[in-house]
Amino acid sequence: MFSMYKLYLSTLLKKGYLKMERDCLHCTNTRKVAVIGCGFVGAACSFSLMQSGLFSEMVLIDSDPAKAEGEALDISHGVPFAKPIRIYAGGYDDIKNASLIIITAGANQKPGETRLDLVKKNISIFKAILPEIKKRNFRGILLIVANPVDILTTVAQKLSGLPENRVFGSGTVLDTARLKSELGAHLNVDPRSVHAFIIGEHGDSEIAAWSSANVSGIPLHKFCEMRGHTNHDKAIQKIAVDVKNSAYENIKRKKATYYGIAMSVKRICEAIVRDEKSILPVSSMMHGEYGIEGISLSMPAIVGKDGVETLVPLQLNETEKADLQKSAETLRDTLKQNEV
Ligand code: 2OP
Repeated sequence: MFSMYKLYLSTLLKKGYLKMERDCLHCTNTRKVAVIGCGFVGAACSFSLMQSGLFSEMVLIDSDPAKAEGEALDISHGVPFAKPIRIYAGGYDDIKNASLIIITAGANQKPGETRLDLVKKNISIFKAILPEIKKRNFRGILLIVANPVDILTTVAQKLSGLPENRVFGSGTVLDTARLKSELGAHLNVDPRSVHAFIIGEHGDSEIAAWSSANVSGIPLHKFCEMRGHTNHDKAIQKIAVDVKNSAYENIKRKKATYYGIAMSVKRICEAIVRDEKSILPVSSMMHGEYGIEGISLSMPAIVGKDGVETLVPLQLNETEKADLQKSAETLRDTLKQNEV
């Protein structure tokens, strides 16, 4: 019987239906995702992933099991309007054959709090979560969303023991979407035709990479003139400040932000599940680019089924490079003060 099963498995392997890792005791199911943390962000991410049709199984895990059960029940009632997916509340044992774990668990900012102010609380939460994941020989991708996302991504890389390319953060994917949205409105064009990145910390030291910004290949300042804007520098500086302060403005009014980040997470999951090789500004470990080492921060990277395949280091002018190094220093200092 056992040899029949082995023959069956090896056939499936040969046909590429299974991705059996040497030391993985279970086949990873590329259509199974686990979401750890069912607060505002986790619930919104789960809702957007249910609608995406990317997954056929989703397990929700939370320190409050009733919350996970409630979110699973509520979101599952929308499935008949989307595509079949089994959504259920579970525990760490249910992550075993998931190909992707999204960690949103953690305290979120109170009005006036910065993301870095959350570092102590959320590192301690990660110190509880990551060993549970490691214990179960998880071999998939860890997508970190909780804040401060760059620090927590670096911590998760260390505590998970997974290859760095498979542990990365949502980074400035959301900030970049905010920048495109603001520029699209300013220029009265489809924000999807605006190509501009926010890089560095997902937070107060983030940088708008203006020198490489363009609208369908036309340098941004030229396109602004084309659209009749003359006071270009003043306008884009205001846009950069508005993007940086978006979360504070949201939190002041509605206690948290969750729809924008949920769409950002969905976009990253699309690139992973479909192996799209999309270029997204996710937070990943730097290894000397721009003279930056030993900290995760956001730089455009190629994202596919194996996570971060390679960085796409933007052409930066001297000011942007210096600001990026300052952003890296802020993150490294914060991490050093909260050594894991
Ligand atoms: C945001 O930028 C709070 O990091 C979250 O919306």
